[in-house]
Amino acid sequence: MSNNEYDVVIIGSGPGGYVCAVRCAQLGMKTAIVEKYSTLGGTCLNVGCIPSKAWLDSSERYHEALHSFEDHGISTGKVKADIAKMAARVAKVVSDTSGGVEYLMQKNKVDVYKGLGSFVDSHTLKVTGEKEAILKAKNFIIATGSKPSSIPGIEIDKKRIITSTEALKLEECPKHMIVIGGGVIGLELGSVFLRLGAKVSVVEYADSIVATMDKDLGKELQKVLKKQGMEFYLGHGVTNVSSKGKNVTVTAKAKKGDKEITLEGDYCLVAVGRRPFVDGLEIQNAGVALDERGRVHTNDHLQTNVAHIYAIGDVTKGAMLAHKAEEEGVYIAELLAGQKPHINYNLVPGVVYTWPEVSSVGKTEAELKEAGIAIKVGKFPFKASGRARASNESEGFVKVIADKNTDEILGVHMIGPRAADLIAEAVTAMEFRASAEDIGRICHPHPTYSEAFKEAALIATDNRPLNL
Ligand code: FAD
Ligand code: NAI
Repeated sequence: MSNNEYDVVIIGSGPGGYVCAVRCAQLGMKTAIVEKYSTLGGTCLNVGCIPSKAWLDSSERYHEALHSFEDHGISTGKVKADIAKMAARVAKVVSDTSGGVEYLMQKNKVDVYKGLGSFVDSHTLKVTGEKEAILKAKNFIIATGSKPSSIPGIEIDKKRIITSTEALKLEECPKHMIVIGGGVIGLELGSVFLRLGAKVSVVEYADSIVATMDKDLGKELQKVLKKQGMEFYLGHGVTNVSSKGKNVTVTAKAKKGDKEITLEGDYCLVAVGRRPFVDGLEIQNAGVALDERGRVHTNDHLQTNVAHIYAIGDVTKGAMLAHKAEEEGVYIAELLAGQKPHINYNLVPGVVYTWPEVSSVGKTEAELKEAGIAIKVGKFPFKASGRARASNESEGFVKVIADKNTDEILGVHMIGPRAADLIAEAVTAMEFRASAEDIGRICHPHPTYSEAFKEAALIATDNRPLNL
């Protein structure tokens, strides 16, 4: 094999691409990864998961110092948020994490090409950039991710009308941020600026926030965020956004009754979803087809219509989540190594990092009812948890949905303290097809938030909570 010939060439170094590269190398394949940006890690590390969580953490600490310390008997002097210092910490977290991916590539002897990858034909990729090269490979993995989408007719000027990418780099706290979209990005980044002192108004087309999650979660989250000061305009579709100087104007029309509202602010965050990204990849030269939604079309084995070209992560079908992309990266590597990997898409958990956090796995109550499955539901409120009371975090609940006949857990939906971490137990339980009674009979440490899952399971199994 000559220098530029590989077993696998991966295009894109996000969580899908870099994890795939590590696993391919572990399995003995000669592997290269191509990234058009100067830093590795993709959306997730550079302008997604990592910086957003870093901002969420800093803003949460500030908010706590302002509003919760007093309840714990702690007095402080004047609490001040230094946005520039916070931004510098976020930037360092990002650069350290991206540096970690560079290290992983070296450690696993993966060749890194920094430049835009474009197909010349189905076996050849041209890299234009820092390291110009022509790469040949037995297999290609398209892991080119996604970019923010917009509303037709609305121009994102990246100054006042912005996406998450710009919002994560703002050097000031907005006075009034108008958020279009009450989904994950809108609520997470809306929370950041709300905590730092901005007025935040969310305009959402659906009748609830986080509309694809179990309905009880959206209702409770909206109640809690409203209490924190966030304003909501649900059932409103945005029709126009304009900016003049430092001001933005957003117009939205109610779905029912056609009434129009106009909001004035200094920033508008457009968070209406993301689109698969294949610009510049010249996939037509390789003969790779897209589906009707512009995603790289793949079969159940993530294989495109060209047998040796695969696609993973946000660029292909399924949830646009980092851990879904990672699972697919590992899946492809093992498939190419002749193994028989498997992904359970029903058990890809979803998390919203507001405070309280929201998390979910499996089917929602509405989905199960629609499928005609007889269910029983157990719901345990955090206000009945000793651990939650000890830390003044008693908002929210854990909801366990089990099959009425077999008691198998079919869905777990939580809102509450550390729900992002708590959901991992539910994923494990469901992967092993646990019944609600199984969870109710497992010893959980006391006092922990995890006891709420056990209690909700006890309620689901036959309504025998121990602390309610
Ligand atoms: P990406 O991470 O998008 O990486 C694709 C890479 O390919 C990019 O680096 C791009 O530059 C490169 N590329 C594209 N075309 C080419 C080309 N032709 N040549 C060379 N390189 C190319 N998900 C979670 O699970 N948890 C979270 O908390 C979370 N938070 C998020 C917060 C925000 C603000 C955003 C925007 C997203 C968040 N996500 C989160 C979603 C997550 O970032 C994505 O699901 C994930 O990054 C997808 O990984 P990927 O590998 O498919 O693609
Ligand atoms: P989203 O799909 O979560 O939410 C977009 C919302 O915008 C929807 O509720 C939709 O009804 C609404 N909308 C669309 N057009 C509208 C209009 N004209 N007027 C008013 N509302 C409108 O998309 P979001 O928040 O942009 O996130 C993109 C992706 O990034 C998601 O798929 C998510 O999975 C991923 N992500 C994941 C995170 C996590 O796991 N914690 C954090 C951030 C992003």
